[in-house]
Amino acid sequence: MANFPKKIFITDNLILKNPVIVASGTFGFDGYGSGIVNKFNFSSLGAIVMKSTTLLPRVGNPTPRFYHGKHWTLNSIGIENPGIDSIIENYLPSWKDWDVSVILSIAGESIDEYLQMATKLKVHTGICALELNVSCPNVENGMEIGQDPIMTKKLVESIKKEIELPIIVKLSPNVTDIRPIAIAAEEGGANALSLTNTLYGMTLNKETHKSVLGTIGGGVSGFALKPVALSMVWKAFQVVDIPIIGVGGISNIHDALEYMNAGATAFQIGVANYANPRLPLDILRDLNAYCNKHKITDYHFLTGISHNM
Ligand SMILES: Cc1cc2nc3c(=O)[nH]c(=O)nc-3n(C[C@H](O)[C@H](O)[C@H](O)COP(=O)(O)O)c2cc1C
Repeated sequence: MANFPKKIFITDNLILKNPVIVASGTFGFDGYGSGIVNKFNFSSLGAIVMKSTTLLPRVGNPTPRFYHGKHWTLNSIGIENPGIDSIIENYLPSWKDWDVSVILSIAGESIDEYLQMATKLKVHTGICALELNVSCPNVENGMEIGQDPIMTKKLVESIKKEIELPIIVKLSPNVTDIRPIAIAAEEGGANALSLTNTLYGMTLNKETHKSVLGTIGGGVSGFALKPVALSMVWKAFQVVDIPIIGVGGISNIHDALEYMNAGATAFQIGVANYANPRLPLDILRDLNAYCNKHKITDYHFLTGISHNM
């Protein structure tokens, strides 16, 4: 391709091949690539964010955990994962041989849990950044850490002191104003923000009148999340200087461009991967074709342009 755009600069030690990233929890059946790593060549992508890992193994929530509406999906997986020790022993060694940037998402119920995971990870290679999933309820007050600017800042500060890896903070959309939380994460030392995780929601079965999930509510993803997450990217872009990664309802190049134009430097594709695991590769192809057509020589030129119109 003639005018291939430049790489994506997140921070000095996190430079991605391009802005296309697979979102946490949606890479293969288990969120760690099972069932697809040998079927597709993902090496051309910007990065893959692995499923959130917790300090101890988690069995997740009661089933059913997944429901498709017409324009959205609802999930209540409950971060089922084998725990950080198993990830370090069984997964990390192979990730370091992959020709794609691997970002590990970690989730905890207290700052101490995140710190213990960071301590275990700091002597290992295989990941290029940590994404902090701050959407778990905090054991101290039951609020999501990402709903509280003070806790968010404290968490990021503590992790930055513990580990040298770049830190991306994935914010929760379950807040009235994203700006104070985005600022708090930046002040704590975050190198980038991912916006957003799933929006809390529920739906009832028409016959049984009970929740369609094994839990009452779950996280809304997909098309219906896009306007919410997009507006949070827009607002955060106006108050922080660190790069923003847009997430929520991306299923084609137009969605991805919308996020970049609203202020995202890169973007993640989530639940749409289930319908088409090749989608991130297709969107990358379409993005490069778009850039070539419009003589865009650097992906960064797309970021935030709608703010100047
Ligand atoms: C089945 C499923 C599992 C998910 N697991 C995680 C997770 O472990 N950690 C996390 O930060 N986000 C998780 N997410 C949220 C996605 O990464 C993404 O933020 C959200 O789905 C919005 O993007 P989308 O509309 O493109 O799916 C999960 C989403 C789905 C659908």
